[in-house]
Amino acid sequence: MAKLNLQALLLGLLATNASAALDGSRYLWYTAPATDWETGVLPIGNSRLGAAIFGGGNEVVTINEDTLWDGPLQNRIPPNGLAALPTVRQLFVANNLTSAGNLVMSQMMPAVGSERQFSYFGNLNLNFGHASGISNYTRSLDTRQGDCSVSYTFNGVTYTREYVASAPAGVIAARFTASKAGALSVSATFSRISNILSNIASTSGGVNALTLQGSSGQAAASNPILFTGKARFVASGATFSASGGTLAITGATTIDVFIDVETNYRYPTASALAAEVDKKLNAAVSQGFQSLHDAAIAGSSALLGRANINLGTSPNGIANLPTDQRVKSARSGFNDPQLIVLAWNYGRHLLVASSRNTSAAIDMPPNLQGVWNNATNAPWGGKFTININTEMNLWPAGQTNLIETQLPLFDLLRVAQPRGQEMAQKLYGCNGTVFHHNLDVWGDPAPTDNFPSSTMWPMGATWLVQHMLEQYRFNGDLNFLRNTAYPYLLDISKFLQCYTFTWQGNRVTGPSLSPENTYFVPSGSSVAGQQEPMDIAPEMDNQLMRDVMSGIIEAAAALGIASSDSNVRAAAAFLPQIRTPRIGSFGQILEWRSEYPETDPGHRHLSPLYGLHPSNQFSPLVNSTLSAAAKALLDHRVASGSGSTGWSRTWLMNQYARLFSGADVWKHLVAWFATYPTPNLWNTNGGSTFQIDGNFGFTSGVTEMLLQSHAGTVHLLPALPGSNIPTGNVRGLLARGGFQVDIDWQGGSFKTATVTSTRGGQLKLRVANGQSIKVNGAAYTGAISTSSGTKYSITV
Ligand SMILES: *[C@@H]1O[C@H](CO)[C@@H](O)[C@H](O)[C@H]1NC(C)=O
Ligand SMILES: *[C@@H]1O[C@H](CO)[C@@H](O)[C@H](O)[C@H]1NC(C)=O
Ligand SMILES: *[C@@H]1O[C@H](CO)[C@@H](O)[C@H](O)[C@H]1NC(C)=O
Ligand SMILES: *[C@@H]1O[C@H](CO)[C@@H](O)[C@H](O)[C@H]1NC(C)=O
Ligand SMILES: *[C@@H]1O[C@H](CO)[C@@H](O)[C@H](O)[C@H]1NC(C)=O
Ligand SMILES: *[C@@H]1O[C@H](CO)[C@@H](O)[C@H](O)[C@H]1NC(C)=O
Repeated sequence: MAKLNLQALLLGLLATNASAALDGSRYLWYTAPATDWETGVLPIGNSRLGAAIFGGGNEVVTINEDTLWDGPLQNRIPPNGLAALPTVRQLFVANNLTSAGNLVMSQMMPAVGSERQFSYFGNLNLNFGHASGISNYTRSLDTRQGDCSVSYTFNGVTYTREYVASAPAGVIAARFTASKAGALSVSATFSRISNILSNIASTSGGVNALTLQGSSGQAAASNPILFTGKARFVASGATFSASGGTLAITGATTIDVFIDVETNYRYPTASALAAEVDKKLNAAVSQGFQSLHDAAIAGSSALLGRANINLGTSPNGIANLPTDQRVKSARSGFNDPQLIVLAWNYGRHLLVASSRNTSAAIDMPPNLQGVWNNATNAPWGGKFTININTEMNLWPAGQTNLIETQLPLFDLLRVAQPRGQEMAQKLYGCNGTVFHHNLDVWGDPAPTDNFPSSTMWPMGATWLVQHMLEQYRFNGDLNFLRNTAYPYLLDISKFLQCYTFTWQGNRVTGPSLSPENTYFVPSGSSVAGQQEPMDIAPEMDNQLMRDVMSGIIEAAAALGIASSDSNVRAAAAFLPQIRTPRIGSFGQILEWRSEYPETDPGHRHLSPLYGLHPSNQFSPLVNSTLSAAAKALLDHRVASGSGSTGWSRTWLMNQYARLFSGADVWKHLVAWFATYPTPNLWNTNGGSTFQIDGNFGFTSGVTEMLLQSHAGTVHLLPALPGSNIPTGNVRGLLARGGFQVDIDWQGGSFKTATVTSTRGGQLKLRVANGQSIKVNGAAYTGAISTSSGTKYSITV
């Protein structure tokens, strides 16, 4: 035995297992239950509800609802901030940097430092009496349709469980079966760490249910978040009994479970929210599991099925191994291209499962943990951290053909806007909208955490609004552009026109910072040698303002608004007043207004490279001088140790893709697998602590190797690591302008592509490093005027 090849042994064992054929590009699957939440559970969701499944013989399912946070809206407007602002600016302009920063910390911070934090509903615990003695075990998550299955044998009986999150029905549903009639018994409870108001099992009126009511914990007078969650159990022929919080079912063959949780965020009174739970569950019970399951799968498959990628077959049958073994083997000597495809599919699954436009008036985008958290307070508060992380969450939306997954972000922007306007008035004396570096479920835009290197950054809205422009670029929705994106851009522009001040002939920001980095105060400034985070005119802010102003001009042109319009003229007049990027001693983009000595040259944030990715300002196709300077800074960051968190590592993938360096993308992809994913493929910060952004950054980074369209050109295979993935294809990716793209490559080189125009318009093409191509058989010489619905065949 000891001499047997482990892999051959495993494959031999699998041959006797019903699940041996699971496609390693599509399924996460395991031969044992999860033992730890963060590293093992399988996540499903319908955006509003999330469920994380352990799959044990005795089952635990952690349940989340996206508005179940840890408290009500807070007023966190810094009372003394506006009065201090002029002095703060004078100190910065006088290069009295330490005193300026100290004054910000003492005068411009809110009295309450923290925003609200994402919480959880609780666990559904299912004791089947199968604590030990199970065999023939598999559990799996299907990343192409979003459901989860568990199967095992106990005492000669095969037990199965299916879990699905239904967007149309608004519930989580499960079916448990036994292969032998009457062999299924379970005792079910809800549990939660704290703040339970009631927890009751009931069989009255033939409605067999668990109901847990809870609160975010504040006194009733302070308007806590109240929530009700219910699980309805249906099992014909079985016996039900209820005692306290435990529902017991015996003698069942099939048990169906339907779960809903609602909060007073959407249904302000306790009775309204309880009624909504019953409405959804009654409808789900009448629909029945199979029909509900099939409709849910049809919906998510339609979204997920729009695009796929194929990067070739992994060698030595490695893709046939359970996912945890592949993640382990990918820690070194990476050689599993199908695992890249699996992680790409998983990123899209997580996006669809945490960011759907549901029937609710307000949806929430994925927070730092998507919609999956198992504690009353998530790590880092599970917030919407908008100095990179929330943006990263939405990067795969357009290019992987899931553009409507951005809609929940726009709901959050709508919630936050009036609060951002109030903040702009009271902290800066300006009209328009400002957010700092986080939002919570209430859209609280105040400076957050009272932390010197992150808090005083007034550019959150400036970045988020770019996603509205992207929505239009991908889907061409002029109504959205006219009614939602354009007014929002103008509101932010209004803030910037008032908020910025003139310094050395430019309109600059400040007090601000370069998220979350610091510098050493240079000699000649005060206090020289001190480590400081804050300044005026950090380079990223300039890039963000440039994208707002040029976005207004782009949107106005698309909407037929004349360039003489006062808003358009104001944007056009502002643009040349924005400070242009400065280039430093080794040819790099400067992060600060002058070349301050660095405290952390390998910093994880790539803020001054926003212009390279996600923006296009530093694209080699736009400005080769700036792209060379961006590369100098990027290479320096990497050589000094950047990529030190999972999300940072995946941002590096995206950045190098924008420099057309497939070899570097591959290097950081391999480095991501070496440290960051858990056995259930969740991204972590440093090998532990789940943070979902890196999953989305990974999916985006892989896509950016294969297709880019941010610089006015549909660029096929811009950064293909041809020696690592010599043969492959993509189907159904989406380029800006509404072009759907299929590409095939072979031997590391482009072979053919089909570009489908979905709404007409100019198609400018580029393949790899600009090689000669033919379109419909004729040499390509420049942009083509396309007609909607027409396919264009590209060959070499
Ligand atoms: C939540 O998950 C973490 C990480 O897996 C684990 O350490 C913790 O015990 C879990 N908390 C609960 C309440 O299950
Ligand atoms: C910096 O500002 C502080 C506070 O106003 C002041 O006491 C100090 O003298 C200034 N330092 C310099 C070098 O101007
Ligand atoms: C293993 O489980 C499968 C279902 O997944 C079942 O069909 C098969 O009979 C089981 N095998 C054994 C040996 O129990
Ligand atoms: C989003 O969902 C709402 C409610 O179901 C619906 O009215 C709206 O049309 C949807 N928006 C889009 C862009 O699909
Ligand atoms: C803000 O808007 C109000 C109402 O439109 C206007 O009266 C006021 O002058 C504006 N304030 C600034 C500082 O622009
Ligand atoms: C590139 O950017 C630099 C710095 O902003 C600018 O001076 C130069 O004109 C730009 N070049 C092109 C070709 O736009």
